[in-house]
Amino acid sequence: MAAPRTDRTLDPALAALVADLPACELHVHLEGTLEPELLLELAARNGVELSTTTVEEVRVTHVFDSLASFLAVYYPAMEVLRTRRDFSDLATAYLTRAAAQNVRRAEVFFDPQAHTSRGVPFEVVVEGLLDAVERAPHELGVDAELVMCFLRDHPVASAEETLTASLPYADRIIGVGLDSDERNHPPADFAAVFARAREAGYQLTMHCDIDQEGTLEHLRQVIEDVQVDRIDHGSNVVDAPELLAVAVERGLGFTACPLSNGFVTEQMKAPEIVALLRAGAKVCVNGDDPAYFGGYLKENLAALAAAADLSAADVVQLARNGFEASWASPERIAEHLAEVDAVAAAHGVAAPRP
Ligand code: ADE
Ligand code: ZN
Repeated sequence: MAAPRTDRTLDPALAALVADLPACELHVHLEGTLEPELLLELAARNGVELSTTTVEEVRVTHVFDSLASFLAVYYPAMEVLRTRRDFSDLATAYLTRAAAQNVRRAEVFFDPQAHTSRGVPFEVVVEGLLDAVERAPHELGVDAELVMCFLRDHPVASAEETLTASLPYADRIIGVGLDSDERNHPPADFAAVFARAREAGYQLTMHCDIDQEGTLEHLRQVIEDVQVDRIDHGSNVVDAPELLAVAVERGLGFTACPLSNGFVTEQMKAPEIVALLRAGAKVCVNGDDPAYFGGYLKENLAALAAAADLSAADVVQLARNGFEASWASPERIAEHLAEVDAVAAAHGVAAPRP
């Protein structure tokens, strides 16, 4: 499928607000930020032979109409990531782009099992990523944190081993997540490993991908059984008012990714995202796998604003929600929100009433 199109263009004043607002990225897969240029550079550096040799050829392979067809292109590309320097370069490239979009905080996903399963040691992955993440506040003005995802289509025992391997880094990884192919891999299968992760001090999030088989039962499991701190995607919850009410009451974040929705389903799911916003849920807009789905956080926000005809106040609320759903300290969240409100005010948008 081609990149999702909207027929509306953004009003220039709203486009400027979208560009200038400080933002919080809560749903980006670092491996999904592997741009074709870096893919080719790492392949050459590591002597990895690819079937594609130009940026254009790589882009031609980015054709997906489902989560599964995306993952079939996504995992093989990771073969070029081998050394600590590779992982550091990947994260630095992402954080540099994020800073240029006024992202002030980024809680970034990585998939250790996608690397350890092909012989790259866990320590190489984490230490390479930490090299970049821990430099980002001083060098780029981005507070960055790692969120380690388990692959739900790998055995639970492998998630357990990955959790154990992470424990020496527990004070440098903020949370754990659950991603990859959701079909036949419900959240409840991972309840015990997530309970252990909680005991180790990690925050918890899980993907509930859009329109997956059994999605409302999966949402029930993440909210009622696992009791996650945040939900990735999850906008089908608008079809389960009682669950939505619990999520709103708990202030649970929902990390929406409009552009990737438009690839893995038929639509960006703008009405569902707006319904979450109107219901008072802490829904925010994110990048997901920007190298594959045509845009980083701000392109996602602009696409949603255009498709849903959002007001300036809506756009500001989405930006605020990102920080409020983050795992930063309350003091740091307050600082970020004050900056959002100052930028909004400079664009003539009044701060929301407390
Ligand atoms: N891995 C990378 N992106 C993903 C997504 N959006 N859903 C599930 N697994 C993923
Ligand atoms: Zn995702």
